[in-house]
Amino acid sequence: MKEKINQLKEEVAALTASSLEEVEQLRIKYLSKKGLITLAFNDFRTVPAEQKREMGQLLNELKNAATEKINRLKENLQYSSDEYSDIDLFRTPAPVTLGTRHPLSIVKNDIISIFSRLGFTVAEGPEIEDDWHVFSSLNFADDHPARDMQDTFFIFRHPDVLLRTHTSSVQSRVMEHTQPPIRIICPGRVYRNEAISARAHCFFHQVEALYVDKNVSFADLKQTLLYFAREMFGPETNIRLRPSYFPFTEPSAEMDISCNLCGGKGCSFCKHTGWVEILGCGMVDPNVLEACGIDSKVYSGFALGMGVERITNLKYQVKDLRMFSENDRRFLEQFESAR
Ligand code: DAH
Repeated sequence: MKEKINQLKEEVAALTASSLEEVEQLRIKYLSKKGLITLAFNDFRTVPAEQKREMGQLLNELKNAATEKINRLKENLQYSSDEYSDIDLFRTPAPVTLGTRHPLSIVKNDIISIFSRLGFTVAEGPEIEDDWHVFSSLNFADDHPARDMQDTFFIFRHPDVLLRTHTSSVQSRVMEHTQPPIRIICPGRVYRNEAISARAHCFFHQVEALYVDKNVSFADLKQTLLYFAREMFGPETNIRLRPSYFPFTEPSAEMDISCNLCGGKGCSFCKHTGWVEILGCGMVDPNVLEACGIDSKVYSGFALGMGVERITNLKYQVKDLRMFSENDRRFLEQFESAR
């Protein structure tokens, strides 16, 4: 019996087939009800009791080897037959639906790319911040309303652990450990304790820019702003600056661009003024430079900050801020071509 099993085992190992029909013949020959291996199992009854254990094991091995061999022959033939000859087994299964970039990422990357052409490099900072970097180092007086619980999310009710309310915090982080020249752009998410509506959200995105060096002037700021506006909204775009107030800049300004929908003629989008506001800016207040360890008698700088949602709305006319965080595919798929 043992010999017979071994002989069958050798036979099975050497099996070949050149068509699926041949494989089927082999299956019938060895594994069908009257196949050689099945018959060998029938002989098992006659094996003396003390050999049953060994023979049983050998028979099972033989059967497994034969089944596996026949399956392998079949698979090889199936995938090399004409029908499958051009199958690429390494291809990702279809259908492959490609994702689209989020509109905020598209616009953020556009902003970064415009400023990087002017030599700015990206700097990032933590979203969970402390009072010093978000407020005190940026010249916010102790009783400034922006520190109020209504605007700022505090963590663990701790007055010194908070979610940053603006990316200006990255300015002070970078200035603390870098001496000028500094030319950075800081994109990131910010948080404010606001009721969620079409026009406000409790988190949104900003990009901050900071340039500190010897002899940086308001003219440098203006030219940078004009370059940015024209790269972002087209070469016909005009800008205007209105005096404003921010604790960390002096003088401060807000910048409007000529309405990119009506070209400045006046429409409902720009409330018939021909202008829309897009960012805040100014010359870095000497107090901020000093608080961060930079000599304000030697260096000066400008800073600007803008909301990414705001710029995206202007470019793509998204009417409701909530669309940006709802992940509705019908909304997101509209930006496929902008990828
Ligand atoms: N941090 C300001 C905000 O969140 C935006 C801003 C205004 C940033 C003026 C600046 C700036 O760097 O100079 O509203």
